[in-house]
Amino acid sequence: MISFILCILAVLVLVTPSVFGMFNYTDYDNDFVNPSYILAGHFDASTTNAQNSIVEWADWLGAQGPWSVTYKTIVPPSGDKHDYMSWAPYYWPNCTGVDNTTQLTPEQIWTECPYYSRDGMFNPDRLLVNDTGAFETMSDAVFYNAIAWAITGSPRHSASAVDFINTWFLANDTGQNPNLNYAQMHRGPDGQMGTHTGLLDFKQMAKLTSGILILRDGNSPDWTNDIDSQMIDWTNAYLDWVMNSDIAYQEYIYPNNHGTYMHNQVASLQILVGDRDSAIDTINHYFSHQYLDQINATGEQPLEASRTHPYHYRCYNLAAMIVNLRIGSYLGIDFSKTTTSQGATIQTAADFTMLQTPNLDDADGPLVELYPPVAAVASIYGDPGGKYAAFLANGEKTYPYEPYFLWNQPLLDSGSHTASKPSVPPHTDPKQAHRSMKKLRRKLL
Ligand SMILES: *[C@@H]1O[C@H](CO)[C@@H](O)[C@H](O)[C@H]1NC(C)=O
Ligand SMILES: *[C@@H]1O[C@H](CO)[C@@H](O)[C@H](O)[C@H]1NC(C)=O
Ligand SMILES: *[C@@H]1O[C@H](CO)[C@@H](O)[C@H](O)[C@H]1NC(C)=O
Ligand SMILES: *[C@@H]1O[C@H](CO)[C@@H](O)[C@H](O)[C@H]1NC(C)=O
Ligand SMILES: *[C@@H]1O[C@H](CO)[C@@H](O)[C@H](O)[C@H]1NC(C)=O
Ligand SMILES: *[C@@H]1O[C@H](CO)[C@@H](O)[C@H](O)[C@H]1NC(C)=O
Repeated sequence: MISFILCILAVLVLVTPSVFGMFNYTDYDNDFVNPSYILAGHFDASTTNAQNSIVEWADWLGAQGPWSVTYKTIVPPSGDKHDYMSWAPYYWPNCTGVDNTTQLTPEQIWTECPYYSRDGMFNPDRLLVNDTGAFETMSDAVFYNAIAWAITGSPRHSASAVDFINTWFLANDTGQNPNLNYAQMHRGPDGQMGTHTGLLDFKQMAKLTSGILILRDGNSPDWTNDIDSQMIDWTNAYLDWVMNSDIAYQEYIYPNNHGTYMHNQVASLQILVGDRDSAIDTINHYFSHQYLDQINATGEQPLEASRTHPYHYRCYNLAAMIVNLRIGSYLGIDFSKTTTSQGATIQTAADFTMLQTPNLDDADGPLVELYPPVAAVASIYGDPGGKYAAFLANGEKTYPYEPYFLWNQPLLDSGSHTASKPSVPPHTDPKQAHRSMKKLRRKLL
């Protein structure tokens, strides 16, 4: 009997990969995909498998939705479940001297015990509130369903994407208030307010915006004028909160990946509301501030290398730098040759990172986190020697099945397509960038 069960298990293990085929969903760190490329549909024949994966991922994610901040069982300090909330993951309660701990209810612990940081140690109870996971999955679901709609033309995909946006942001009963006042909040008597690191929870606004642009520019019948204007109103209200929030400002000027991702978020939302000039200012701000100190001459990212998981953080910031590059390119500005103060480019950083080894004993990595950025670098900078394609093929043989393969074309060809398409920056005047920064500062402080 036991050997029979073992036999069944062995068969399941063998069969699972082929049953699911190319289905191995990964939440890529971030992306911004040019809607014109997706909507034009002139895809290279080599991308067929990637297109199929996108449709599979869209359906799999879609079946889990919709998501809403109002579904959580714990009420934020405001008393309003429509407020987004997440708990700072590395903070732990110290109830010594507060009361007899065995008599404290969880709610008393969360409000009465001081919390202190144990860097890198996750407090498991943080998952009692999962607005973070819900937003990540919702934004991926919108992103993949919008691209799947462009590929298949099936209203099932556009209707899902619109339903998820409506439920999360707009519907009266389930919509989120336009703020992150309680993101990665600290608990205890001195807490109950969000912290600047919580702004990172919304980094995937870049993916979500890509999805919305595809539906909007592709004239999806499901993306009605009414939903478009409601979403623009919501986003304007949220950007207004960002401009007046001290924690948002701290995140915007933060030197490491936090600052990079905050620019992903702000610029994409400015694009969503049609404020192209502000989006250009935001991307210019990134490349004339944080970026300059993020990559040194060797391609090392010192601010990420000094973290507990350097391999992971190098890949993580690389993904966000690429999104800022892609948003710039969408806006008509090419920052791919822009150098840091030590003369490096994003390509230099990718080349350096490819030579590093994750410290697997320290839960560093994973290696796969580097593949989407390497594919992006190959497509943006060209891959004449086939170095990037070889790196991918060596690490992940099935990389042409990955969704990122579709929007990181050309990948196997040796073209330098971006180099042959010089673009004229609409306004890269440093004085203008400085003025807009001062304007932002005035608004925020
Ligand atoms: C998906 O994962 C399985 C199991 O790890 C692996 O065997 C298979 O090759 C993967 N498929 C793709 C397309 O990546
Ligand atoms: C816990 O609180 C007690 C009493 O205030 C204090 O003596 C102790 O240092 C605290 N421990 C930590 C790890 O903060
Ligand atoms: C805490 O309360 C429990 C149960 O009421 C009791 O057994 C224990 O002695 C108390 N501890 C302290 C330090 O008062
Ligand atoms: C949190 O949400 C994510 C994404 O939907 C999900 O994968 C995860 O299982 C959730 N965690 C808990 C504890 O509910
Ligand atoms: C939502 O609330 C607004 C204002 O409270 C109201 O005007 C509107 O009719 C409501 N919409 C729905 C669908 O209930
Ligand atoms: C680059 O940064 C690393 C890590 O901080 C450092 O070891 C190395 O010396 C730096 N290289 C240069 C040229 O500054």
